[in-house]
Amino acid sequence: MNPGTAGTATTAEASGAARSELRADVLRGLAAPVRMLPPKYFYDERGAGLFERICELPEYYLTRVETGILAERAGEIAAAIGPNACVIEFGSGSGRKTRILLGQLDRPAAYVPIDISGAQLAQFARELRTEFPALPVLPVAADYTVAPILPAGMPAPRRTVAFFPGSSIGNLDAAAAEQFLRRVRDLCGESGALLVGADLHKDPATLELAYNDPQGVTAAFNLNLLARINRECGADFPLDAFAHRAVYDRRRQRIEMRLVCGRGCEVHVPLDGAASPHATFAFGAGDYLITEHSHKYTRESFAALAARSGWSVRACWTDAEAWFSVWLLG
Ligand code: AVI
Repeated sequence: MNPGTAGTATTAEASGAARSELRADVLRGLAAPVRMLPPKYFYDERGAGLFERICELPEYYLTRVETGILAERAGEIAAAIGPNACVIEFGSGSGRKTRILLGQLDRPAAYVPIDISGAQLAQFARELRTEFPALPVLPVAADYTVAPILPAGMPAPRRTVAFFPGSSIGNLDAAAAEQFLRRVRDLCGESGALLVGADLHKDPATLELAYNDPQGVTAAFNLNLLARINRECGADFPLDAFAHRAVYDRRRQRIEMRLVCGRGCEVHVPLDGAASPHATFAFGAGDYLITEHSHKYTRESFAALAARSGWSVRACWTDAEAWFSVWLLG
């Protein structure tokens, strides 16, 4: 399923409106002084599959380490959350992590996975209903980055707890991350909580390897974005002219995923109903497009983000090497 901030329609589901939105975002991103495409468009059907493969790569430690923390600390986490909580998961992308949490919670009132991909969501909900027959599973097919509406008829929980694993919060720049966390706080209410995973700053070689895997799965994932734009917007990115490269920016403490142009070329993006049939964008050798930021935090910087967003830190768990952190905010 789609991770974190990434929810977007699969190819089969792409409606006219979704294509227009993609085209508008592409035109805006290519016209910007620093060219950038929104990472939420990575996750068409092929991209979602490639992301699942990334999560299993030995170099991409994030999934493995976060799952380990959740498994090891599940009892503590469940005790801190308490009984009869309603769990809302954003992205509902992590079946394994969800099962760890739900399996430990004391009589959870309901589980509400929110994901834009309705078909995947329905399948996931069916599986969970079989595994947790006493648990009301109430999927919401929506883009959770835009204020989601919770299902009617939800049982009144003692507490609403949002679950946002995977360090998808890191794909939002500072202002957007703060805005998102504030919105989650409003959704969960005064007695609510947020269980959120955040990748930690570490040596750049480890970080860069995680995003430049030798098998080239991340490269295929990154380049698939251009293939999607060509297919869904009628653009003509020459795929063989662009190469994947992920670079760690130490000062800003974030991985920058790039598509670097190896030779001069022009890219045309058809325009909807304008006088000119398309917009043209020239690339020189070495020019690049940014496709994603993946912020890495220190304990201090994440606690500061939480505080700016109106949350208090209730607990923070890390692995022995302090590579990844799981936070309970309240
Ligand atoms: C979804 N998100 C947390 C991933 C990340 O690590 O920022 C997306 C990703 N991009 C390249 N590899 C994984």
